[in-house]
Amino acid sequence: MSLKTYDLLLRRGKLLRLTQLDVELVDIGIKNGNVAAIAPTLNESAEVELDVSGQLVSPPFVESHIHLDSALTAGEPRWNESGTLFEGIQIWGERKASLTVEDVKARAIATLKQQAAQGVLFVRSHADVSESQLIALKALLEVREEVKDWMTLQVVAFPQDGIYSKPENEALLEEALKLGADVVGGIPHYELTREDGVRSVHRVFELAQQYDRLIDIHCDEIDDDQSRFLEVVAACAIRTGLGSRVTASHTTAFGSYNNAYAYKLMGFLQRSQINFIANPLINITLQGRTDTYPKRRGVTRVKELWQQGLNVSFGHDCVQDPWYSLGTGNMLDVAFMGIHVCQMTGMPEIHACYDMVTRNGAKTLHLESEYGVEVGKPANLIVLDASDRYDAIRRRAVARYVISQGKLLARTAPTSTEWLGSESLAATMAAASPK
Ligand code: FE2
Repeated sequence: MSLKTYDLLLRRGKLLRLTQLDVELVDIGIKNGNVAAIAPTLNESAEVELDVSGQLVSPPFVESHIHLDSALTAGEPRWNESGTLFEGIQIWGERKASLTVEDVKARAIATLKQQAAQGVLFVRSHADVSESQLIALKALLEVREEVKDWMTLQVVAFPQDGIYSKPENEALLEEALKLGADVVGGIPHYELTREDGVRSVHRVFELAQQYDRLIDIHCDEIDDDQSRFLEVVAACAIRTGLGSRVTASHTTAFGSYNNAYAYKLMGFLQRSQINFIANPLINITLQGRTDTYPKRRGVTRVKELWQQGLNVSFGHDCVQDPWYSLGTGNMLDVAFMGIHVCQMTGMPEIHACYDMVTRNGAKTLHLESEYGVEVGKPANLIVLDASDRYDAIRRRAVARYVISQGKLLARTAPTSTEWLGSESLAATMAAASPK
């Protein structure tokens, strides 16, 4: 039994609280996995003290949209040469034939470690359930259990090929919920017909109510300005009252709607109070592929949704898979791209983009009771090598310390450059030249 007051004590960190705009310089005491005290100075002792003077202490990053089942498969069995969403779906269909539980688990855990090392401690992953053995889903449910001591993972039952494109797919989706998926997914714009798409959204809502699950639908991920399933999702959310339990992911077609329709829709969306997830790295890469010039950005109306007070978060979506061959799982890369693609360069907008990879994602995942650096809550927090949110995004700051459930999970030393100057270079050259 330790006589020390705290297990871990962070000294003089710049704490980013959920309810305040400005950071404050504080000490944070952690005991038994929880935040035990926050004060300008804590005089008690601790088993371990970390001096984090002047560095940003933030709630962890929240990855609200990723596909862990396909992560780290880029180039298998072939590269996506067209760069389109639909060639990606074809290639994944080929790769899916060789999936095993061990294969999915190994890649998912490797990706989660990569994410955690960069400050992500909450993840919502989609699992493709358009496959007769439900291998991806079963694997990710096992991973959810195996990582729970250091990472919170939600799993979405995601019917990648559509609920009605094959006779067995509807039953597979329901089976995935029986097996324990946290969230029901859909992909209405990829159903065979508009009618099937509408029917699929209704089915997702029925299942969510029957099994008491959250909803996260890949919705209108296409540049087609006639892809209008978002209005169906909003209508279902209004009629069922499910509201904030519902998320529309991607909604890239919203960026192509005419303004008369978009303005009308925005009013319905406000009534619905659903969440939105944009994936700027992937949206800017996959969309606009059928355009010549002008070429669309292919991202939803993030700034306008945010201005209307709707909850928007950013996801990474893909890490080295058939849809996106790059990425490391770093959410500051995502926020950085979001600022560019959505043109959110005002300071409140930059802060909003930081929120979109932290607290807004927590709201989408319904983590609010456990999220945030506050006395009594689980001690999940990160220390970034940055003075504030703007600095963190601008330099994609390293997560110096990642603390999960009160334990130091990962630490990373910031890179440093030794400036030698031209005189040093000349001296080195002279020393190296033959005598
Ligand atoms: Fe996705």
